[in-house]
Amino acid sequence: MAAKASLDMEKAKQVAQTVVGDVATVVHGALTYIGDRLGLFKAMKDAGPLTIAEVAARSGLNERYVREWLGAMAAARYVEYNAADETYTLTPAYAAALADEDSPFFVGSYFQMAQAAVTVAPKVAEAFAKGGGVPQSEYPPSFFEAAERNSRTRYQHKLIRKWLPAMPQVIEVLNAGGRAADVGCGGGRAAIMIAQAFPKARLVGYDVHPPSIERARRNAQEAGVADRVTFEVGNGTDLPADAFNFVTTFDVVHDSVDPVGLMRGIRRALKADGTYLVQEVNVSDKVGENLRPMGKMVYSVSTLYCMTTSLAHHGAGIGVAMGEAKARELAASAGFSRFTRLPVKDDFAVLYELRP
Ligand SMILES: C[S@@+](CC[C@H](N)C(=O)[O-])C[C@H]1O[C@@H](n2cnc3c(N)ncnc32)[C@H](O)[C@@H]1O
Repeated sequence: MAAKASLDMEKAKQVAQTVVGDVATVVHGALTYIGDRLGLFKAMKDAGPLTIAEVAARSGLNERYVREWLGAMAAARYVEYNAADETYTLTPAYAAALADEDSPFFVGSYFQMAQAAVTVAPKVAEAFAKGGGVPQSEYPPSFFEAAERNSRTRYQHKLIRKWLPAMPQVIEVLNAGGRAADVGCGGGRAAIMIAQAFPKARLVGYDVHPPSIERARRNAQEAGVADRVTFEVGNGTDLPADAFNFVTTFDVVHDSVDPVGLMRGIRRALKADGTYLVQEVNVSDKVGENLRPMGKMVYSVSTLYCMTTSLAHHGAGIGVAMGEAKARELAASAGFSRFTRLPVKDDFAVLYELRP
C-alpha cells in the first residue's frame, strides 16, 4: 500500500488561496455577464475616466448596483481605478475585448455562454451519476445566442480573409456561382458571410436544432441575403446526394451524435471534385498538452455541452479535445481519400480540407 503523503501546511494554504481565487473568477464572471448584457462596458467605451454617477447615467442603471459592479471590475483590473478622483476607465484593450463586437479581440460573449452553460450543471451532474447526457432542448436560448456571437467574431475576421483563401479551388467555385452547404450552421453567420462575399454562390445551412434555424432565417433576412441562403432543419447524415461543390462544418464534428455518419453524409452530398472544410478547436487530444487556461475552458465547455449533448442521444461523445488523429480516422472511415491540415495559423481554430 502506498504511504500516505504528509500535508505541507504552507503549500496547502497557498492551494486554498488559489482555489478561492478561482471561485472569485467564477462569481466575477457573473458580473461580467451582467456588464455585457446590460451594456455597461459599451457605456464606458471611449469615454475616458468616469465617476460612478457618470457610468450610471450613461448606462441608465441603478447607481448603487453600478458602484458595486465597478468595484468588482476594478479589483479584476478590467477597469482602471483612480483613487485620487474616484474615477473608473475602460482602457482601449479591455474595450476591444468586452465592448466592441466588431473587434477581432471581442470575447465578451463568452461570459453569456458560460452563464447559460452553468445553469445546466445540475443536470450534467445527474448524467455523471446515471450516464446518458443532457439534450439540447434543456439548454436556455441564451446559450445558442452566445455561441452565435462567439463565432460571428471568428468568421468576421477570419473566414473570408484567411480560411477560404487557403483553398483556391473553393474561391474559384464560389465566384463561379457554386453551391455550398454549412452543416451544423447554428445561427447561420458563416453561410451569410459567404453569401455576402460571393454574390453568385447559393448556400444552404442545415442544423438539427430548430430554434437555431429560426434565428438563422431571421439573420439572413436582416442581412438581405435570404434569396441566396436558405436554412433547413436537417441532419448532416441525411443530405441530398451529389448536390454541393463545397461543404463546411464549424465546431460540429466533435459535437455530433454520429460523426462518421455525418462525414459520410457530407461525402455523399459532395460533387466528385468538391471540398469539405472541417473547422475544429485548436487543442490537443492529450491532457498533458492542455494544462493551461485554454484546456481548462475546453474540457469544461465540453462537459457542460459538447460531449454531453452527444451522449444524450447515445452518441460518440467525442468532446472538444478531438485532435487531428481522430479527425483523420473519422475522415478515412467516412471514405474521404485526401486529408490536409491547412497551413493557417490560428490560436483557436484548426482547419482540415477533405476531398472525396
Ligand atoms: C458548437 S455548435 C456550432 C454552430 C455553428 N457552426 C457556429 O460555429 O456557430 C454545433 C452545432 O452543430 C449542430 N449539429 C450537431 N450535429 C449535427 C448534425 N449531425 N447535423 C446537423 N447539425 C448538427 C448543433 O445543433 C449545433 O447547432
